[in-house]
Amino acid sequence: MTKLLAIFIVFIAIAFLPGLPPELDFTPYTPSEPMDFTGPLAPNDKLNGAEKLFEGKIVNPEGLASANGSIYASSRGGDIVKVVGDKLVTIANIGHQCEGYWEEKKCGRSLGMAFDSKGYLYVVDAYYGIFKINVNTGKVGHLIKTDQPIAGKPVKIANSVVVGKDSTVYWTASSCDTTFDDAVIAMFGDASGRLFKFDPATKTNTLLLDKIHFANGLALSPNEDFLIVAETVRCRVIRYWLKGPKQGTSDVFVDGLPGIPDNIKVNTEGLFDITVPLQRTKSIPLASDLVAPYPLVRRFLARLFYLMEVPFAMIQENYPNFYSGLITHWIGSFDPLLPLFPKELLVVQVDQNGKVVSSLQSTDDKVNLISDVVVAGNYYYLGSPFNNYLGRVKKTKVKAE
Ligand SMILES: *[C@@H]1O[C@H](CO)[C@@H](O)[C@H](O)[C@H]1NC(C)=O
Repeated sequence: MTKLLAIFIVFIAIAFLPGLPPELDFTPYTPSEPMDFTGPLAPNDKLNGAEKLFEGKIVNPEGLASANGSIYASSRGGDIVKVVGDKLVTIANIGHQCEGYWEEKKCGRSLGMAFDSKGYLYVVDAYYGIFKINVNTGKVGHLIKTDQPIAGKPVKIANSVVVGKDSTVYWTASSCDTTFDDAVIAMFGDASGRLFKFDPATKTNTLLLDKIHFANGLALSPNEDFLIVAETVRCRVIRYWLKGPKQGTSDVFVDGLPGIPDNIKVNTEGLFDITVPLQRTKSIPLASDLVAPYPLVRRFLARLFYLMEVPFAMIQENYPNFYSGLITHWIGSFDPLLPLFPKELLVVQVDQNGKVVSSLQSTDDKVNLISDVVVAGNYYYLGSPFNNYLGRVKKTKVKAE
């Protein structure tokens, strides 16, 4: 009984004490109901039999891009690589000198990439912003910096990028409150994600959408009349109209996804491929869904994660060492949640009207934890923020139907 009382008092103290970090707001919201794994989402084996390429030679290739049939990826540490036959060729580096991956804030961490129509590659680093790369010469330009506030607020996690035919750059910030190594804390807080437009001629950013709950992957419709943005914590995709009668307004494009959406790509059939790394069902909801209506519980959890980090962060500041660095990085990042991730892969395929028309799934256990899918030649390439390889699956398998 006294134990229970002690736990209760600690909870009350952490949840209610004024002025404790992190400085976030917590407003109740109702999560959407997940759609069922039936119809277009009925389990299938289209991503079965995945191979692991370049194991140990590439680390956390989260976002991928393809151009002229070649696949490009990033490796933790900042190498931008190209798959050439059975080799991985480093074409550029956007990383910063650092001791190890736990110094992620310093090293940088690439989360997304996209080509423009002229063949330049744009890579988003969560901490540093957006780089524009000439993949033939390896020349790197730091196009959008996030060291100064943008539209009144600092960008703490830059996430995805897509470029229009006129070279206008659209990009997302997942959070203006916490950095990527504290992304889990950001998920408990209120939405602070943003969608920006960057004009390369004037070098200015315009805020298109505010308060997106962990804005993530981004895609342009094939005729560029709208953009879609993954709103990860809400398990939905938002549409922003660039042209037509609804220009400048937004609406919900896909609601009730059966998990959290990450990167979005337009595939060769003109469908949006929405990769869902972490799944949910009506009977197995996500932790973020369960706590959504309870601001006090969310504040408690955010503060708890934060407080657990404090002693290690203090040691790290005064006596920098491997262990305190690693633990400070580990708490608050997604890494401790890895065992919760499911074995099955899921890519939800959506048409131009936001209708779910098909899906790519796996039923085996060859490759897990994917965050992006890109087609090149007769293969799907699978990106991941956790894997130390590049996944690859043959698109059309020869088999008896
Ligand atoms: C793809 O090919 C076109 C036409 O040859 C070329 O202009 C473009 O730069 C190429 N893109 C890349 C990324 O190599």
